[in-house]
Amino acid sequence: MPDTLTVIDNRTGEQYEIPVERDMIRAAELRKIKVKPDDFGLMAYDPGFANTASCKSAITDLDGDQGILRYRGYPIEQLAQRSTYLEVAYLLVHGELPTKPQLQSWINNITHHTLLHEKTKKLMEAFHYDAHPMGMLVSTIGALSTFYPDSRNTQDYETRLLQVYRLIGLMPTVASYAYRNSMGLPYVYPDPALSYTGNFLNMMYRMAEPRYQPDPVLERALDVLFILHADHEQNCSTNAMRSIGSSMADPFVATAGAAAALYGPLHGGANEAVLRMLRSIASIDKVPGYIERVKNGEMRLMGFGHRVYKNYDPRAKIIKETAHQVFEVTGRNPLIDVALELERIALEDEYFVSRKLYPNVDFYSGLIYEAMEFPTNVFTVLFAIPRTAGWLAQWMELMADPELRIARPRQDYTGYEKRDFVVLEAR
Ligand code: CMC
Repeated sequence: MPDTLTVIDNRTGEQYEIPVERDMIRAAELRKIKVKPDDFGLMAYDPGFANTASCKSAITDLDGDQGILRYRGYPIEQLAQRSTYLEVAYLLVHGELPTKPQLQSWINNITHHTLLHEKTKKLMEAFHYDAHPMGMLVSTIGALSTFYPDSRNTQDYETRLLQVYRLIGLMPTVASYAYRNSMGLPYVYPDPALSYTGNFLNMMYRMAEPRYQPDPVLERALDVLFILHADHEQNCSTNAMRSIGSSMADPFVATAGAAAALYGPLHGGANEAVLRMLRSIASIDKVPGYIERVKNGEMRLMGFGHRVYKNYDPRAKIIKETAHQVFEVTGRNPLIDVALELERIALEDEYFVSRKLYPNVDFYSGLIYEAMEFPTNVFTVLFAIPRTAGWLAQWMELMADPELRIARPRQDYTGYEKRDFVVLEAR
């Protein structure tokens, strides 16, 4: 059987053969389907890109029906158990696990780029005391583009790689400065002797002690959370990263754009929304009433549902286990009982079962963050830091893609036909 699709256009009776490759057709093939020779040709209409592959990618493999997530072929469960965030970042960007010397040089390069230009601090001080940390992060990462004008040379591989070191290195510094700024606390400089997550905790929480020593359990838990958040193929923010990158804009502004997309409550902002929801429910006896309101369409159950997962999100499973390890150090977060009850009822309820709505990555992560004393408005920043590796890996892949073209979707114009301008006095 040929790998083609036979399409009969009932408007004309014409028959077309469209090649099928890897269970896809090239949307441009539809253009040959026309009623009149000067027609534009058929287009695919797909709001939200629900059934459109925008690129070929060898980075993250996601099977939403099976609940499978793999980075470069390695199952997320194995990486969460045996790897570290920086090793995973290398894997995402370079495609293979590093050798010992490769990993050491990667860590050195990233650590070397954790210091922010002093002027950035002044820039951040201009934000109002109650500025949302994501707003500060987005603006500051965008502003870094002006400090690194060489980053505009997107055609050169070595220059691109340098921006990867800079962005992965600087993200925790910008994030912690945003937090310290909002708390009116002095900034803490990076400590190169600590791990990536250990240093982040140092920059967030160090007070008067001469040297900050992170709790090893919390440091590892945060590293596991960073691994789980590192990439998730063509989600809303990654799509923004690729879209901006496709115009050859520098990776700082592209990352700022991706972080802006992450900010929304339907994407990375969901972890913050989940915690606010759990707090508003407050006790187990209120859970059934809340579920009813969700079913009546009054609100969404935040941290539930996913465009791709129609099964339990494998990341949520790992986070749930990690939560218990964290609680052994921090004490149990009582909201976990509300979350467990919500999950129990939802997974038995016809509304959620029929729509295949399961807990996603954001459902339990906020409970851990809260137990680790991160303020709620910092949660999405904790998503943005690790996702930077994924955004950059996707951007590196895009820049080397022989099929790279500027992202430019079509539209179905539904507005007026031509009409003549009417002067103000005559309206
Ligand atoms: N609570 C209640 N109903 C829901 C939910 C939810 N969380 N999610 C989807 N539904 C219902 C929705 O009302 C619709 O029902 P009906 O067919 O009767 O109209 C059906 O399920 C399909 O929903 P959809 O909006 O078409 O699904 P989508 O693929 O466009 O949206 C989603 C995916 C993640 C935006 C959505 O599930 C949602 O809003 N979830 C809550 C926010 C959230 O947790 N986001 C984090 C996602 S995972 C991490 C990340 O991407 O950053």
